[in-house]
Amino acid sequence: MRRKVIAGNWKMNMLPNEAISMITELAPLVKDTENEVVLCVPYTDLFYALLTAQETNIKIGAQNMHFEEKGAYTGEVSGAMLKSIGVEYVIIGHSERRQYFAETDETVNKKIKAAFANGLKPIVCVGESLEEKEAGKTAEIITNQTKLALEGLTNEQVRNTIIAYEPIWAIGTGKTATSEDANNSIICIRNKIAEIYGNDVAQDVIIQYGGSVKSTNAKELFTTSDIDGGLIGGASLKADEFSKIVNYDK
Ligand code: 13P
Repeated sequence: MRRKVIAGNWKMNMLPNEAISMITELAPLVKDTENEVVLCVPYTDLFYALLTAQETNIKIGAQNMHFEEKGAYTGEVSGAMLKSIGVEYVIIGHSERRQYFAETDETVNKKIKAAFANGLKPIVCVGESLEEKEAGKTAEIITNQTKLALEGLTNEQVRNTIIAYEPIWAIGTGKTATSEDANNSIICIRNKIAEIYGNDVAQDVIIQYGGSVKSTNAKELFTTSDIDGGLIGGASLKADEFSKIVNYDK
């Protein structure tokens, strides 16, 4: 049985004092869950978030990293830097980074390899735009992104990669994919992984859904056959709302 991973992506929100308050409020609300609880926070919140989440079941992640170990890359943060302060997860290839910061399938692949080299667990985002969806290209786009992201990884690394299927048209729009459509897209991704790395590996890969997940739709999405939790944007900023998503199965 794959574990559900419920991860928040705070994006560019929350000052350190807000991060501390949110995590302090969240911790008792999610302490009894069997689901993995992760918050991916801005770099400037990481240290405060890690300290506040100590002795809780909340894991902390970053939202991006550079693929090089160190060097003349002004403004960048490496996997080694994240690992050194105790970060466990890192989001890679979010559609906002692909769209606004020139992230490509190639840099996504390099970053995933660098994440593993530094003992970080990558949450890799794939997803189609509205145009691609309307052109009937969803399956082609998301399976291709998945293939390119995972290229050159060992079976063991693929097994430990979390994929977040986030249709771009559903992000921050209030439009959620139907649970059936989201599940079918995730099955497509899993089948592609099975084709390349074998069914054994594919059955172990955690594949989340992201895009306007809320406490009111989480249960319907997360109780389908193949959706293994979610990557949550806006609804992860408030402890009460996020805890209800984490506890969708209570
Ligand atoms: P929303 O939940 O705000 O739609 O954002 C989804 C997302 O991009 C998570 O990474």
